[in-house]
Amino acid sequence: MRSSADPSATIGAMSEVASVLFGREDIRRRIEELGRTITGDYEGRAPILVSVLKGGSVFLADLIRAIGLPLAIDYMSISRYGGATESMGRVRIVKDLEQDVGGRDVIVVEDIVDTGLTLSYLISVLQSREPASIEVCALLDKAARRIAPLTIRYRGFECPDVFVVGYGLDLQERYRNVPDILAVHDLASLDEDPDLLLSYLPVPPA
Ligand code: IMP
Ligand code: MG
Repeated sequence: MRSSADPSATIGAMSEVASVLFGREDIRRRIEELGRTITGDYEGRAPILVSVLKGGSVFLADLIRAIGLPLAIDYMSISRYGGATESMGRVRIVKDLEQDVGGRDVIVVEDIVDTGLTLSYLISVLQSREPASIEVCALLDKAARRIAPLTIRYRGFECPDVFVVGYGLDLQERYRNVPDILAVHDLASLDEDPDLLLSYLPVPPA
């Protein structure tokens, strides 16, 4: 899947720290399928796709171009405080939607559902605004780590219990622009040297 022309020695060293879990072609094909399914399910309707900043924005950008419906998009930003293990998971809205979702068909678009705490809070907030319907579309589902039960109507891939970066997902705000989704096998080394995955970044044409 790699398009850069790194020396093989570098690639060998890199693969110990991370490896491609879902390549850009797999992602593209899966999003086409999701788009087709959503287009069929919402025929005759105009859903509003709500993305959770920032990770979900890359997925949203590709997903909407696979959906043949007159849709709208909006963004919400939330931050979590308190530990992930707290049963209620306290979440704060940092940026709210600009559009009223009352009476609308809402699809919440997320990069990854991990514990599910963020999304279950978000859904309860959106429910209180009385949309016509609300469903979740998540590119990755890390089901093994779920704390808050959640129905994911549209799921891209099941994700193993490993930290992933790329395609919008970050490690301390880095690597969102990696075109593939990488599994990080050695977080400690990456913590020590945050540049270890630079060769996975896209190589612009000359
Ligand atoms: P949850 O509330 O635990 O489900 O948190 C989900 C959020 O945590 C996602 O929207 C991501 O921003 C972040 N997250 C969870 N797992 C990963 C990962 O493996 N890599 C990068 N971000 C992650
Ligand atoms: Mg996120």
